[in-house]
Amino acid sequence: MRTRVAFVTGGARGLGYECARRLAADGVLCAMVDLNAEQVARAAGDLGPGHLGLVADVTREDQVRAAHAQATSRLGPVNVLVNSAGIVGAARPAWEVSTDEIRKVMDVNVMGTFIPCAVAIPAMIQAGWGRIVNIASMAGKDGNANLAAYSASKGAVIALTKSLGKELATRGVLVNAIAPAVIETEMNKATPPDVLAALVSKIPMNRLGRPHEVAELVAFLASDRVSFSTGAVYDISGGRATY
Ligand SMILES: NC(=O)c1ccc[n+]([C@@H]2O[C@H](COP(=O)([O-])OP(=O)(O)OC[C@H]3O[C@@H](n4cnc5c(N)ncnc54)[C@H](O)[C@@H]3O)[C@@H](O)[C@H]2O)c1
Repeated sequence: MRTRVAFVTGGARGLGYECARRLAADGVLCAMVDLNAEQVARAAGDLGPGHLGLVADVTREDQVRAAHAQATSRLGPVNVLVNSAGIVGAARPAWEVSTDEIRKVMDVNVMGTFIPCAVAIPAMIQAGWGRIVNIASMAGKDGNANLAAYSASKGAVIALTKSLGKELATRGVLVNAIAPAVIETEMNKATPPDVLAALVSKIPMNRLGRPHEVAELVAFLASDRVSFSTGAVYDISGGRATY
């Protein structure tokens, strides 16, 4: 049986935390990576011994490289990457969002996915096995009103996933994305109630998704149970997705 070591960005809370918890239940050793030292240490501690809480800003290549090196030396070669770090940014009409706000969202969501992929892929190629799961969003397929920067950034994550899927298709490294509709996490606490209600109204199941439902799909995509899918986008949207 292969030892799996996962590098989970945004692992201190929300979907990243829940994915790490679910992977740990499958015996995967998890390096949870996030901005706040105390929070990420607590999150890793919750999972029990054998898991790490590491501090890195995913937009900073030097910090991601250092965290990846630590994960490798303490847990073993990283062969699973879950990119969950992300921010929503301003919920306003596109023309009222400042350039700085747009750049910040693009930086965290796009560069913050690109960089961990670039850092993690060489060792996966060398091992001949790897699984990458990028957390995109339904917003990246549909384009949500008042979330233009966020939607554009998640569209970029989807395209990045498709390119990497093709580049790595014969190397044993599978790269897939998931596109959740709105899920019940702290991220949505800052979303104005009218924006949230509009998002839920698009979901035929008429409810928010739950983090453990997302983690289940990620656990599948991080395993040998997925073998003939790469560069794919998996919907987890309560029936919202139409394509
Ligand atoms: N919750 C939803 O409704 C929903 C729906 C679709 C997609 N998503 C995506 O799922 C992912 C996780 O969302 P969530 O709901 O768990 O959000 P969250 O806000 O609860 O958690 C995100 C985590 O990412 C971390 N983070 C943010 N910027 C970072 C940076 N620069 N470097 C390192 N860590 C950073 C935060 O500290 C936080 O712990 C995001 O990419 C989000 O866009 C969420």
